Amino acid sequence: MDLLFRPRRLRTSESLRKMVRETRVSRQSLVYPLFAVDGEGIVEEIPSMEGQYRYSVDRLSVILDQLMSAGINKVIVFGIPALKDSCGSQAFDDNGIVQRTIRYIREFYPSVYIITDVCMCEYTSHGHCGILDGKYVDNDQTLEYLNRIAVSHAKAGAHMVAPSDMMDGRVSSIRRALDEAGFVNVPIMAYSAKYASAFYGPFREAAGSAPAFGDRRSYQMDYHNRKEALKEVELDVAEGADIVMVKPALSYLDIIREVADRTDVPVAAYSVSGEYSMIKAAAKAGYMDEEKTVCESAVSIFRAGADILITYFAIDLARYMDEGKIG
Ligand code: PBG
Repeated sequence: MDLLFRPRRLRTSESLRKMVRETRVSRQSLVYPLFAVDGEGIVEEIPSMEGQYRYSVDRLSVILDQLMSAGINKVIVFGIPALKDSCGSQAFDDNGIVQRTIRYIREFYPSVYIITDVCMCEYTSHGHCGILDGKYVDNDQTLEYLNRIAVSHAKAGAHMVAPSDMMDGRVSSIRRALDEAGFVNVPIMAYSAKYASAFYGPFREAAGSAPAFGDRRSYQMDYHNRKEALKEVELDVAEGADIVMVKPALSYLDIIREVADRTDVPVAAYSVSGEYSMIKAAAKAGYMDEEKTVCESAVSIFRAGADILITYFAIDLARYMDEGKIG
């Protein structure tokens, strides 16, 4: 046959396929979510997230050692406090679970880069991401609290803060608060396009952060929308976000792509708990090959334009890279 173009020519061997790959992945771009819980001697598996655990500070070495040997040196910390109240005061307590976790990691694992989730839902008795006015989350009052949380994380030694509350104006508010407290070099990774998503289900069990009433649709985004995500990103960048995030990842690859095309700051994607648990459950049932599915979905997120991937599969992915399965 007289065929001038034969795209298959570049697929004839493994080394050739690897040479012409368009997407490269690196463990430098991976961030692992870490659940720290108040108490002692705790390493408890999260029932909705097989293979993921909550750790008390005295047992954090269990997971940090695994991360170190996998060459993963970035974490995003979530705290599960023993006490919750209406204003989430444990979130900005200098001896809160996240603050103690930060100090522990700084002391014993100085090479780990610590990002903290700045939000209130794990700390409020009502489970919402801010201060309530009746049943409505009051935006402007919440900002004051977010400032306190971010500054207390930075004081404890957090390298970067990541507000995930979706209040309006929180990036500029936190930026000003950090600067005034002397933390001009603590970057903000804004959860900019964070959708109200069913894919957070397993996380809410992990963190005990399900709202006691209603849902988060008055602050997180409606998944029917695309332009709104671009607006949120634009606002956050204008307010001083150093990195913007799209969350969840797999159902929002279109959004990742558009954000990556339109903004000049690094783009993070959060492959959330539901994405993790779906793969785990399907693999356990024998419906899909876990390793291949994890590789394919992670690469798809980078291919969509993400520069940074937050994933519960970070350690697995590092191994797959070493084994040459992706990279
Ligand atoms: C806190 C927060 C949530 C997640 C990250 N930060 C939960 C939520 O918004 O309900 C979800 C992470 C995941 O599902 O893996 N607001």
